[in-house]
Amino acid sequence: MTPTTKLMPVLSATWDQDDSFTLEGYTRNKGYAALKKALKMQPDEVIQLIKDSGLRGRGGAGFPTGNKWGFIPQGDGKEHYLVVNADESEPGTCKDVPLMMANPHVLVEGVIIASYAIRANHAFIYVRGEVVHVVRRLQQAIEDAYKAGHLGKNIGGSGFDLELTLHVGAGAYICGEETALLDSLEGFRGQPRLRPPFPAIAGLYAKPTVVNNVESIASVPAIVANGAEWFSSMGTEKSKGVTLYSLSGHVTHPGQFEAPLGITLRELLEMAGGVRAGHQLKFWTPGGSSTPIFTAEHLDVPLDYEGVSAAGSMLGTKALQIFDETTCIVRAALRWSEFYKHESCGKCTPCREGTWWLVQMLKDLEAGKGTEADLEKLLDVCDNIAGRSFCALADGAVAPIISSLKHFRSEYIAHQTNGGCPFDPVASTIFEKASL
Ligand SMILES: Cc1cc2nc3c(=O)[nH]c(=O)nc-3n(C[C@H](O)[C@H](O)[C@H](O)COP(=O)(O)O)c2cc1C
Ligand code: SF4
Repeated sequence: MTPTTKLMPVLSATWDQDDSFTLEGYTRNKGYAALKKALKMQPDEVIQLIKDSGLRGRGGAGFPTGNKWGFIPQGDGKEHYLVVNADESEPGTCKDVPLMMANPHVLVEGVIIASYAIRANHAFIYVRGEVVHVVRRLQQAIEDAYKAGHLGKNIGGSGFDLELTLHVGAGAYICGEETALLDSLEGFRGQPRLRPPFPAIAGLYAKPTVVNNVESIASVPAIVANGAEWFSSMGTEKSKGVTLYSLSGHVTHPGQFEAPLGITLRELLEMAGGVRAGHQLKFWTPGGSSTPIFTAEHLDVPLDYEGVSAAGSMLGTKALQIFDETTCIVRAALRWSEFYKHESCGKCTPCREGTWWLVQMLKDLEAGKGTEADLEKLLDVCDNIAGRSFCALADGAVAPIISSLKHFRSEYIAHQTNGGCPFDPVASTIFEKASL
């Protein structure tokens, strides 16, 4: 990463060290010191600390992490569970995988502290099945943490016991939705559950459960070590702390950029060497493919939860996919729609059938077939999916389509007048010949 005052590496501070992922490397970098500190506090004090820090869930929705932990009923005599959501499958989202590769122990330490706070004696990491290299790395870190006495019985002589199970998913995007994840973890087909009851009341095996994203839990050790004020002094009024912004696509230096919440894409692009040489920004996603797209007009939108929402999108997972002027918006919307069609779990009709129809319509539109009235039909189908389906996958599926039509309607129409994709050299040649 280019050194600049805008970057604030905390999670990524040690990623350039050769052994950052080993127990030795992590311990040398003061790893597991926060755990010692937390185990001397009362569990409720740890929850209060996380509340005071202002940490908000990094899995997409931005729900305050300390509040979520506080929902777990105490003294209920039931088992409690912590489940880490490491399913990371959204197009563009690519922060948890590098985090777990470079520093799996920070996640393990966060798991132990969070489990202690919510009084859980069994925690799970549900990791996406395709990332075998991450699975191996996590497995090794967990084994090493057991050997070092950070996991198992009577951790650090505190009397606190914790078992940590690594569960490997089978590669379904829907299993990142927290209730589908819990069903999958229990051995059922991964499909979202009806809520209420929420996981805090009846989660894994119908017991009180916290589900948190990898980055949320990995942020905990630094907060415990440095204090709530340190964390809340960074970021903006309601979006505190630092976070990982993932730049990908048509950018000179793609990668992870850890910075305080509220930084803008203009600032991030400067650090990433700008859009690839000789090209201009056309559109971008602020938080993965499920968040409405932005254009060059939005370069100065503060990338915090409030700023992005006020500008008409969502911060989501802070997955900034950059597309330059060579990208066909209709083709991009079609590719994303194919993903959602494939990943729809099929539980509810609007999403199962609707995502299929969206793909058919976009295929036709990309091929230059149809009329302007078909654009209204496309929006009508979107309207019958969003807000009428069982889970947020469906809302995510229509977000790129509706926003692409809002910003680039003329490009959809150009496909019809061109008789094909104007970005496709073959189709545009045919059009040019035909119009001669
Ligand atoms: C279709 C779908 C996929 C999701 N995938 C993930 C994922 O891979 N990782 C994740 O942390 N959250 C994912 N979420 C959000 C989770 O349901 C949940 O909000 C999150 O794990 C909570 O963690 P947090 O409070 O730490 O953000 C997904 C949600 C939906 C609707
Ligand atoms: S909205 Fe889609 S992914 Fe969600 S439950 Fe319905 S069919 Fe499954």
